[in-house]
Amino acid sequence: MTRTHTHTPHHGASHGHHHERDTGGEAEILDLDAEVLAEHTASITAWLPLETSPRQIVDLGCGTGTGTFALLDRFPDAHVTAVDTSTEHLQRLRAKACARGVEERVRTVQADLDEDAWPDLGSPDLIWASASMHHMARPERALHAVHDALAPGGLFAVVELAGHPRFLPGDAPEDRPGLEERVHAAADRLQAELMPHRGADWGPMLTAAGFTVEGERTVAVNIEGDHNEAIGRYALGVLQRIHSFVADMLSPEDLAALARLLDTGGPHSVLRRDDLTVRTERTVWAARRT
Ligand SMILES: C[S@@+](CC[C@H](N)C(=O)[O-])C[C@H]1O[C@@H](n2cnc3c(N)ncnc32)[C@H](O)[C@@H]1O
Repeated sequence: MTRTHTHTPHHGASHGHHHERDTGGEAEILDLDAEVLAEHTASITAWLPLETSPRQIVDLGCGTGTGTFALLDRFPDAHVTAVDTSTEHLQRLRAKACARGVEERVRTVQADLDEDAWPDLGSPDLIWASASMHHMARPERALHAVHDALAPGGLFAVVELAGHPRFLPGDAPEDRPGLEERVHAAADRLQAELMPHRGADWGPMLTAAGFTVEGERTVAVNIEGDHNEAIGRYALGVLQRIHSFVADMLSPEDLAALARLLDTGGPHSVLRRDDLTVRTERTVWAARRT
């Protein structure tokens, strides 16, 4: 087990090795994501093709614990080993476990899953990896390692996102309609280079690693804002994080319009909008070690 610090320009873009990793803004976005998308996460855990309730679960690239806590809720007899490179995320996860009184059921392990030697994960009957497999530099190798770590008959659930969620109507903001799509297009160009496996079809890769893929499901997320202030903060967090690294890829007019949306004290702040929605997609693959 080794400690490696990597740099994450924004949510979902952690990659590479031996760089400083800024997880501050990411942690808040992960927490808001857990809050806003809780029902969708629960529907994914409920869908998993499990004949018996798992007792030992591993959450790979657990972040601040979205999957860990959803799984602890769903399987009240289970223990979860939560693995991540980020000590900061793991500390946050542990604090939440204590606050919820489930610390006895959670073990946190700091590890870089791109390293050859994986920590001892026991013999779990369920391994969960949400929005983390696409971060792996060598996902094929990681999939083999997951296969070997699972108990025979155990299930691997890979959850991946279609991309960053969208929040604004297509004709917003008024002076620069379509701004959000242009911001995401710039982010996608950058991410395609950093993380070629983002948006991949994990089915064939899971089969190649020896798994039997038992199901695949795509969940469309479309949540009305309804003045939910968490959605405003979530939109602000995601756009801030993207802004920090696509700035020089945008036109001056788009950059100025984005700055107005991010200016929380100003009249055009995204926090003041009452027309936000959360639009995204999640796909889950359920793969069995046969
Ligand atoms: C987008 S976040 C997803 C977090 C969480 N699974 C969730 O659904 O909210 C990706 C996580 O993978 C972790 N990660 C990225 N590369 C990793 C690696 N090589 N080894 C372990 N964790 C890694 C990051 O630190 C981050 O917490």
